[in-house]
Amino acid sequence: MAFREYKVGARMFGLAFGSSMFITLYMPAVDIASVSATTTAMERQLAFGRVGGFSYEDPFLRGHGKPVTVDIVLDPKTGAAIEPTRAYVYTPEIPFPNGVRHPRILGELPSELSVSKGRMTDADEAQGAVFVVRETTREGISVPYIENVTATRGWTPEATLARADDKNRAFIGKGKIMFVREGCWWCHTMLPEQTQDWQYFGAPPMLGDFNGESPTAFGSDRKGPDLTHVGSRNSSREWMMLHFFNPRLVQPHSIMPRYDYMWGDVDADGRPIDYDAWRAAYDEYEAGNTIYPPEVPVPAVDSEARALIDFIINLK
Ligand code: HEC
Repeated sequence: MAFREYKVGARMFGLAFGSSMFITLYMPAVDIASVSATTTAMERQLAFGRVGGFSYEDPFLRGHGKPVTVDIVLDPKTGAAIEPTRAYVYTPEIPFPNGVRHPRILGELPSELSVSKGRMTDADEAQGAVFVVRETTREGISVPYIENVTATRGWTPEATLARADDKNRAFIGKGKIMFVREGCWWCHTMLPEQTQDWQYFGAPPMLGDFNGESPTAFGSDRKGPDLTHVGSRNSSREWMMLHFFNPRLVQPHSIMPRYDYMWGDVDADGRPIDYDAWRAAYDEYEAGNTIYPPEVPVPAVDSEARALIDFIINLK
């Protein structure tokens, strides 16, 4: 009898804790599960690949096993001119994104269309596949779905890659890994708030924009600008190149760190990059002894810097 109060207290606590967890975790989960993927969600997950952060397949976050995004204007099979199309190329053994593996994630109508019309689930990871995002209308409303163009049009990964030159290839999936690994999210959000934030950083995302993305990179703290739509305000590769090599080249008082080490050993022409010489020349410039800073090397196609720039430029 002496401990009756504890029994009552423990039950009351259990009830209060249980119902608050039900309200904060379970109820939103039902809501989120019923939201269909938007066009943005499909484009993001197809560009990022299965995981956009740490995974056992890529424990050191080097950007392995990612698809290549290509923009093409010629049909990879027939060579005929087509509407400019963005395709996501998964060469054999590149893991498919979550929405392709588990169509349910896309929401009822988009998953049904992706399977029936887009033949999405006919794709085979061992063979590779090419995907595009399409839209169709149902009852006056536009609905996006994923089309496996390898099955519907015979576009093989190799033929599709061959239709895109270097300018029209983007290593967005690898770039997202770089963004997560380098901790850009310590200083940059990717989530404009529903306040005057809109006026500068653009529209906040919708709930359905993230179906199938893992993980998201919203960021928590803002020491630099929000990057959700940064590619719409600044799409200059040259500016990004200078800014990542050393932010002080374009923003004299920037507190952003330099990421020159992401260039690796050689530049786009295969010439070795001499960081010490570059730094010495930069110090001369900073001291006011030279008029121009040293030239920034163009990053090699397989460099981490190239992938990061591709990712950032494509944040529209
Ligand atoms: C220490 C905080 C910090 C970190 C870490 C950081 N940034 Fe920044 N970033 C800033 C600040 C401050 C600015 C604004 C001044 C400037 O442009 O340099 C900025 C500007 C930018 C801009 C230009 C934004 C615009 O609106 O035009 C881009 C793009 C960018 N950062 C990308 C990145 C990426 C990618 C990374 C990770 C590789 C990164 N930043 C890491 C602080 C940071």
